[in-house]
Amino acid sequence: MRKPMMAGNWKMNKTWAESVVLAQQISNRSREYWDDQVDVVICPAMVNIKAVNSVFEFDKTPASVGAQNCHWEPKGAFTGEASIPMIREAGASWCIVGHSERREYFAETDETVNRKVAALLEGGVAPIVCVGESLAVREAGDYLEFVTSQVRADFAGIEDNQAKTCVVAYEPIWAIGTGRTALPEQAQEVCAAIRACLADRYGSEISDEMRVLYGGSMKPANVEGLMTQKDIDGGLVGGAALEAESFVELIAACI
Ligand code: PGA
Repeated sequence: MRKPMMAGNWKMNKTWAESVVLAQQISNRSREYWDDQVDVVICPAMVNIKAVNSVFEFDKTPASVGAQNCHWEPKGAFTGEASIPMIREAGASWCIVGHSERREYFAETDETVNRKVAALLEGGVAPIVCVGESLAVREAGDYLEFVTSQVRADFAGIEDNQAKTCVVAYEPIWAIGTGRTALPEQAQEVCAAIRACLADRYGSEISDEMRVLYGGSMKPANVEGLMTQKDIDGGLVGGAALEAESFVELIAACI
């Protein structure tokens, strides 16, 4: 039985003060909605990781904090970047890697994603590895091959016992921030292919333990249909994670 996960990706939204308020609002609702049946992860902007983590620590909220990116080197002359020891000390126990926005706007490739996954595992921070096809790839019909080749490349050289701690998020680019969610069956088809690809590499015992999330316009109105799919273990949520009300509803739908 895989423990569901609901992860909020705040992207480049919320100032320090706004982040504290939203974290507090989510925290206030936690007792009413969930305890440890679901892994709740909030990924604020890098500069707000510490503040959000402090709110959760102070309130003993059953939620953890993640970063949206990292560099694979532990330190050095990489202006504008943050290392894994830095995000970890700030309070991040998770880190999103390979988000399609980073692949598109910041030249992230499967090779850099793979370096980050390896460095995160080495550094004791669990990766949430994002994969997903564009509309053009979907319409061309070879999306399963595209997504599974991303998974293979992103996990190259990652050992069995390390892979277990990773989460994969399937985020079709055509569904991100567009309001156009993948149908539950469409999401299930790709999430099942991702799990089969992981089973190929690591065996079914490990792939059955690994969580595969769906992301792309997930919201209270469509979460039930997605969560009832066999290979969907939770969500990576952008827009609907920016308000406590909708986000806690998504968490509740995991239980
Ligand atoms: P969205 O974003 O929920 O706003 O579509 C999801 C994501 O990009 O992680």
